[in-house]
Amino acid sequence: MCGIVAYVGPKDAAPILLEGLQRLEYRGYDSAGLAVVNRGLKVRKVKGRVADLAAAVPARFKGGLGIGHTRWATHGAPSDVNAHPHLDGAERIAVVHNGILENADEIRAKLVADGVDFVSETDTEVLAHLIARAVKETGTLADAVRTALKAVVGTYGIAVVDAERPGEVVVARNGSPIVIGIGEKEMFAASDVAALVRYTRQVVHLEDGELAVLKADGFHTFTMDARETAKVPLTVDWDAGHYDTGGYEHYLLKEINEQPETVARTLRGRIDDRFHIAHLGGLNLTPHETRAFRRVKIIGCGSAYYSGQIGAQLIEELARIPADAEPASEFRYRNPVVEHDTLYVAISQSGETYDTLAAVQELKRKGGRVLGIVNTVGSAIARECDGGIYLHAGPEVSVASTKAFTSTAVAFALLALHFGRVHDLSPADGRRICEGLRRLPEQIREILGREEEIAALARKYADRPSMMFVGRVRGYPVAREGAQKLKEISYVHAEAYPASELKHGPLALIGPDMPTVAVVPDDELLDKNLTTLGEIRARGGQVLMVGHRMAEAKLADDCIVVPKNEVELDPILLTIPLQLFAYHAAVALGRDVDKPRNLAKSVTVE
Ligand code: AGP
Repeated sequence: MCGIVAYVGPKDAAPILLEGLQRLEYRGYDSAGLAVVNRGLKVRKVKGRVADLAAAVPARFKGGLGIGHTRWATHGAPSDVNAHPHLDGAERIAVVHNGILENADEIRAKLVADGVDFVSETDTEVLAHLIARAVKETGTLADAVRTALKAVVGTYGIAVVDAERPGEVVVARNGSPIVIGIGEKEMFAASDVAALVRYTRQVVHLEDGELAVLKADGFHTFTMDARETAKVPLTVDWDAGHYDTGGYEHYLLKEINEQPETVARTLRGRIDDRFHIAHLGGLNLTPHETRAFRRVKIIGCGSAYYSGQIGAQLIEELARIPADAEPASEFRYRNPVVEHDTLYVAISQSGETYDTLAAVQELKRKGGRVLGIVNTVGSAIARECDGGIYLHAGPEVSVASTKAFTSTAVAFALLALHFGRVHDLSPADGRRICEGLRRLPEQIREILGREEEIAALARKYADRPSMMFVGRVRGYPVAREGAQKLKEISYVHAEAYPASELKHGPLALIGPDMPTVAVVPDDELLDKNLTTLGEIRARGGQVLMVGHRMAEAKLADDCIVVPKNEVELDPILLTIPLQLFAYHAAVALGRDVDKPRNLAKSVTVE
């Protein structure tokens, strides 16, 4: 949620921290701040965006050690005072924190009783006071941080500096990511590699329960009980260019337009034309083990969960293995029964979503076999899983997920093909799916070529207070994702329902003020879907149909015709116009497309 950056080295920290915070702003954006060490602490923090912070930082803000933060409020409203870094009373220790400290109120009460004055409403401030107390006794910042962290319960990614130690920064992780960047005689840390790639592509991920001391000439990592740990640096594939808008007005539009290439990357090297199978080297499953699974359970949050619904349908259709998807955030809290013959699949673009990570950890604790479908290489969820599929979709910066969604659905198609061919999917059907997958990038390009037509429809409907999205079976997850995109970036209320459920309640909402987006693939349920369109229009509701058959367009008020693929793969293509629809509706309404209100890209808190 929040973003953290830290720097120690020969350069001035402030410009590096500000640049890094800009890269992380998608993680949280209600306030920002930084501290540098130079004969004491210099601190600036503001309610607002990183640009507001940059404007508040004076030209002479020198110092080669610093920490920065961009906040997504949890404890205390967005304000200058609640912005991080937080300091102790003597202004010696500065802390930036991502996560939630559950026993902060309790600790605060004890500290207040001891005469400590608090200035903010945040949970983080307790850490600054605890570390300041401990450092007087332990003598080293690392030991003081360890001592303080032992007193707190909750999640954190933190970076801490001590005005009396101008050469080191201490970072620690428990549930919120911290990545160390290794430079030439300089070291960095951040909550995401996005903040680091301009300076270095050599990184090290901290594990939960690990801390690190960074100095300009190196770093060392250790556990909460002070045991040294060994780390092997990874090289990040993505460079700074991947984090630019590339000439598009918004990251979202760039990422929507990248999909022919990102889908091709997810497929690259994974289709075998000889046996019509998928090569998925990272699964770490023998055919024998694969055959032993009787069920597949898919978990993820938000759009990742909806792409999991597409995945469950693909696995059932192609492999005939019962499969279903469930929000990870629900799954982890209901004490799930973990079965040895069920394969669990966790989905995450960021690889850091706390609810999904916690669900994976719960599954692992109970002996479940978990695969990850993840975009971010080396992320916590990827590391926690027994095997999986990387999406290779490149960094997704805009808060609303688009290219990761389609790549996840494509990864599921490969997984379903693989399972299907290990079970009873015929070579002919395998070939049909392989050929269908190969057609996807070009067909996506074709849909993107109709952007103006879709934009005009978005402008036509954008002023409605509410929209219904409906679909049957394959169309239903597409409708859910379409509604999700519209509500999160345009703030237009959107409800998604199975088309078959309409007459069991929500039909009462239908009328001139509630248009319906109907996802109507050309499959065996076409006639039933067309009947639904008739029912909606008979009640005065307008229909925007997204489907395949031009002839049926007359049954709707408006229509977006999408190229046809194999029925199992059609949901992937039907999603694309709804992304463009949501984008252009949001633009028409003047929304902050890439950073919608109240949301953050990586939800690393419960
Ligand atoms: C998608 O548009 C949303 N921003 C959100 O639902 C997202 O998909 C969800 O938070 C899961 O994120 P993850 O894929 O990084 O785990």
